[in-house]
Amino acid sequence: MAGDILTALCRRRSCRAFLPDPVSRQVIEAILDAARWAPSGGNLQPWRVIAVTGSERDEVVRIAGEALFSGASEEGEHFIYPPDLWEPYRTRRFANAEALYAALGVSREDKAARYRWVAENFRFFGAPIGLFFIIDRRMGHGQWAQLGMFMQSVALAAEAEGLGTCLQEAWARVRETLHGQLGLEEHELLYCGMALGWPDPGHASASMVRERAALEEIAEFRGFGD
Ligand SMILES: Cc1cc2nc3c(=O)[nH]c(=O)nc-3n(C[C@H](O)[C@H](O)[C@H](O)COP(=O)(O)O)c2cc1C
Repeated sequence: MAGDILTALCRRRSCRAFLPDPVSRQVIEAILDAARWAPSGGNLQPWRVIAVTGSERDEVVRIAGEALFSGASEEGEHFIYPPDLWEPYRTRRFANAEALYAALGVSREDKAARYRWVAENFRFFGAPIGLFFIIDRRMGHGQWAQLGMFMQSVALAAEAEGLGTCLQEAWARVRETLHGQLGLEEHELLYCGMALGWPDPGHASASMVRERAALEEIAEFRGFGD
């Protein structure tokens, strides 16, 4: 069992191409029912999630497409990346994008193809299910971190069902537009989306080579040799 969890942690990867096959409400419920056991400080459970499919999904996609076309990002103070990203994060972000475009066979000069690919975010990369993760604006950084734990739990539970996921902060770019469409309260904020569905293993994006900083770069071990 413990081995299953380690395997799932390493096997989960962002899926950016999906088969059109539907995913039943029962499966989504089972995933969210498991993920709600994610831990949170004081057991606040500072999260809410909205799942959309069918016509509801299509409407969100339509509205987002219009908003993107008409203008500026709606990230606001909760930006996707801090401005003027510094090292080592700047290089990691660049390398990540290049690895994806290399898998897709899109060159650096082909700005139109890159733009089209970014726009794929706003159709959930073709996934039949979209999830939106919502937090109370009054919460602090601790609760934001815990929302992340909930999101990872959803991704791992989906993995256990053989489903693919991609977390999508890109949706923050249209968060004000979707606020009304999703019927959010004044104090609520759309943080992140997630594409969820059956992976298309034959798609070029599935061959993207992923990287991580080495363990020595992110972890220190003290007192173990004593
Ligand atoms: C909170 C969060 C938001 C993300 N937003 C996006 C996104 O908008 N679009 C996208 O293609 N990938 C997005 N990703 C996926 C990351 O690029 C991906 O997790 C990272 O490159 C590591 O690759 P892996 O998930 O395949 O291991 C997001 C990931 C997280 C955790």
